[in-house]
Amino acid sequence: MKKVLLAVLAVAAVSAVSAQDRDIQALYKKSCYACHAFGANGAPKTGAVDQWAPRMEKGMETLVTHVKDGFNTMPPKGLCFDCSDAEYKALIELMAAPQ
Ligand code: HEC
Repeated sequence: MKKVLLAVLAVAAVSAVSAQDRDIQALYKKSCYACHAFGANGAPKTGAVDQWAPRMEKGMETLVTHVKDGFNTMPPKGLCFDCSDAEYKALIELMAAPQ
């Protein structure tokens, strides 16, 4: 009986991870994408590693804080009002990576 429960938990854990992977793309499309896909208002462009490098040097914690509080013309929360810190981090990593 215990084995069955463990198997169920393992399956649930695996599907939670893949669901989160899908979510990040979806979250990106309906929030950060609006400005970062095209570099609107001087936003570092998604996939432009050279534009993201000086930002990444500030450290992930600072960047997540800047997303939550807003940063110059970047609006607070970047249009994702229910994103968690972990999701902001994943979104930043997605945009800073070569596409
Ligand atoms: C309405 C447009 C807009 C949206 C939507 C937006 N951004 Fe931005 N973002 C900007 C602009 C413009 C800048 C550049 C600000 C500057 O450097 O003056 C920026 C900068 C940033 C930076 C760099 C901050 C720093 O300290 O250098 C990060 C990280 C970032 N955005 C993450 C995100 C994330 C994550 C999302 C989605 C949840 C998002 N942005 C959505 C416009 C936007």
